[in-house]
Amino acid sequence: MKAYELRRKYIEFFKEHGHKEIPSAPVVPENDPTVLFTTAGMHPLVPYLLGEPHPQGKRLTDYQKCVRTGDIDSVGDNSHLTFFEMLGNWSLGDYFKHESIEMSYTFLKDVLGFDMNKISVTVFAGEEGIPRDEEAAKRWEEMGIPKERIYYCSREHNWWGPAGETGPCGPDTEIFYDTGKEKCSEHCDPTCSCGKYLEIWNNVFMQYNKKKDGTLEPLKHPNVDTGLGLERVIGLLQGKSSVYDTELFADEIIKIKELSNNFNMESARIISDHLRTSMFMIVDGVRPSNVEQGYVLRRLLRRVIRHMRKIEFDPDNVTTLLDTFEKITKEMYPEISANKETIINVIVEEKNKFMKTLANGEKEFDKNVKKAKEEGKTKLEGQVVFRLYDTFGFPPEMTAELAREASMEINMEEFQELFKKHQELSRAGSEAKFKGGLADHSEQTTAYHTATHLLHKALQIVLGEHATQKGSNLTAERLRFDFANPQKVTPEQLKQVEDIVNEQIQRDLVVTCEEMSYDDAKASGAMGLFASKYGDKVKVYTIGDFSKEICGGPHVERTGNMGHFKIVKEEGVAAGIRRIKAILEK
Ligand code: ALA
Repeated sequence: MKAYELRRKYIEFFKEHGHKEIPSAPVVPENDPTVLFTTAGMHPLVPYLLGEPHPQGKRLTDYQKCVRTGDIDSVGDNSHLTFFEMLGNWSLGDYFKHESIEMSYTFLKDVLGFDMNKISVTVFAGEEGIPRDEEAAKRWEEMGIPKERIYYCSREHNWWGPAGETGPCGPDTEIFYDTGKEKCSEHCDPTCSCGKYLEIWNNVFMQYNKKKDGTLEPLKHPNVDTGLGLERVIGLLQGKSSVYDTELFADEIIKIKELSNNFNMESARIISDHLRTSMFMIVDGVRPSNVEQGYVLRRLLRRVIRHMRKIEFDPDNVTTLLDTFEKITKEMYPEISANKETIINVIVEEKNKFMKTLANGEKEFDKNVKKAKEEGKTKLEGQVVFRLYDTFGFPPEMTAELAREASMEINMEEFQELFKKHQELSRAGSEAKFKGGLADHSEQTTAYHTATHLLHKALQIVLGEHATQKGSNLTAERLRFDFANPQKVTPEQLKQVEDIVNEQIQRDLVVTCEEMSYDDAKASGAMGLFASKYGDKVKVYTIGDFSKEICGGPHVERTGNMGHFKIVKEEGVAAGIRRIKAILEK
């Protein structure tokens, strides 16, 4: 069975069981600032899992493009991918464990023809306040999975979510395929990562909403959220020991082999995986940069180039690989073909940028490793890592990887200190967001940051206090701001908002910053929604007498020179959420 057939069979099966098909969302979540990428099929459904009625009803199914970069260092083995497709089905307060387990069992057995003797499952073992999931275990047994292949596991293994810091979550039951490999020890079971058991499907029984303070609040109605890994299942169905041997990658790997002088499989897989992920990111609007999603894309592409050099594959041949990929993906992902030119342009441009300094950077790296080794050191100094970043464009994670290959470590803390100091010197004075990427502190972006605070406050004045922030995205050219509002904002209201913002700019207000605990910040009346993104201490930025908001910064020192604020677009992005795009004209 080919991947596209699996996808079609899945959707058909669940449609036959009363589900409506919904479209895949982009890999960059539209309105969830707590995550950089869509990592599971449930992301776009969060409001409905929390209780809002979905226009398509209570039973939904889809395939969702997902990006997970948490395991990036494992890519290169048989199964890890940074991009994958998740097939999913949902019950929004409709069926629960009984039917969900039955449908999964039936699909695997009757539609895919799995040998059910090779299937094991895990269920939640329970903990204080949350019972052991006897109900799921009983249902598996009724379906025909014997007791000895039903494992009770702790929260570490059988609890899913939330995807960010807050949101829907619950105990799950996971379905594993026994690959037939020897047990790695007498304790080897489905929770073991030796490769004997492959997880193919996860059925989450979402009964809770995790709140900011960490407490679990029961949901209005319990849901089912499932996810089946398309690439992995295809590998199993085709009897391949690796997803890279399936039609999704095979031709690509052959091409890489053909064009390299020093082939190794791990690098070929890294190149294929990362290029594929980059293509999907680019299609959904991500561009290489030093912040957030753009930084992840940059890291992936720079890693691709480095591995190309390692296997002596001329990076100028990257377009040949993109052509091969297009042929492979055409059937399943028409968006790749439709955007081929953009994809090639973005990738080639980033390649050219990096190639200019790569060879010199590598020399610099080798020199420093040699020196450190001669001095008996096991760690590269932060300064070296910083110079490689600043002068040669080496993402610190890449230097860390190079260092690992040379049996060295890097002093990441020292690097971070230097990076921070550098930012302060360049007057930005902000925290670098190492989690999501390195912050972009160009002056224009800084002005947009401050403009966003002014806009947020102005919207609350004009529309009411419900108009709170739902998302925000800045570049050096514009700001984008999502906020809650039930209906379209009228042209008159937009004009009022613009006027209020421009008035604050003209007043040349002083912007000040104070650090305090999150609780003190709240008590001081500061706005600020995404507490989960901050540490214990938060920064509160005050703009004159106009606005007070929790934020990592950076901001302008005074509002006077920001330019003229102009709203260029207002549109709806989801039920109850509006989006404004605005610019600062100089
Ligand atoms: N949301 C669940 C997962 O990602 C299905 O595994």
